[in-house]
Amino acid sequence: MGAKAERRYDAGMRFCLRDALLFLGTASIFHPAFADAPLRAQVEAGAALWASSGCSHCHGANGEGGDIGPSLLDVGRRLKPEAISMQIHNGGKVMPAFDNVLTGDQISDLVAYLRTKRAKTPKQAQAPPQRGQ
Ligand code: HEC
Repeated sequence: MGAKAERRYDAGMRFCLRDALLFLGTASIFHPAFADAPLRAQVEAGAALWASSGCSHCHGANGEGGDIGPSLLDVGRRLKPEAISMQIHNGGKVMPAFDNVLTGDQISDLVAYLRTKRAKTPKQAQAPPQRGQ
């Protein structure tokens, strides 16, 4: 009798788990917000690379622009991800190429980070990440 009850419990659990997984899978595939949005992990990795790879040296700590590099506060709105990626891979007239400095994955992370920069004008400061304000 004990074994039977246990088996029923087991089957119930498996059903729930499968349903939960199905639900999660469907939600992440079909939810529009997930379709094209950069993954948060990539954005965070990109932000770290931004500081450690020297980008901030020319473009400012938050991409607000510096003595050498232009503001990138609106770059996610202005440029396609492919164009941002090209710029980092190949550099520009002044900007060095990062092709041999960063891996493809690291450049993808930086692109994900820069895609979040969508200010209406290049000078417009971005709202800081919500910190109880
Ligand atoms: C030596 C200074 C310098 C460094 C370091 C630098 N940039 Fe740049 N960046 C520039 C300049 C200057 C431009 C404008 C194009 C040119 O003249 O090369 C530019 C342009 C860009 C653009 C295109 C902007 C637009 O509106 O077309 C992107 C995107 C960009 N940089 C991203 C990065 C990233 C990401 C890094 C770090 C991996 C980086 N830059 C490091 C100087 C720099």
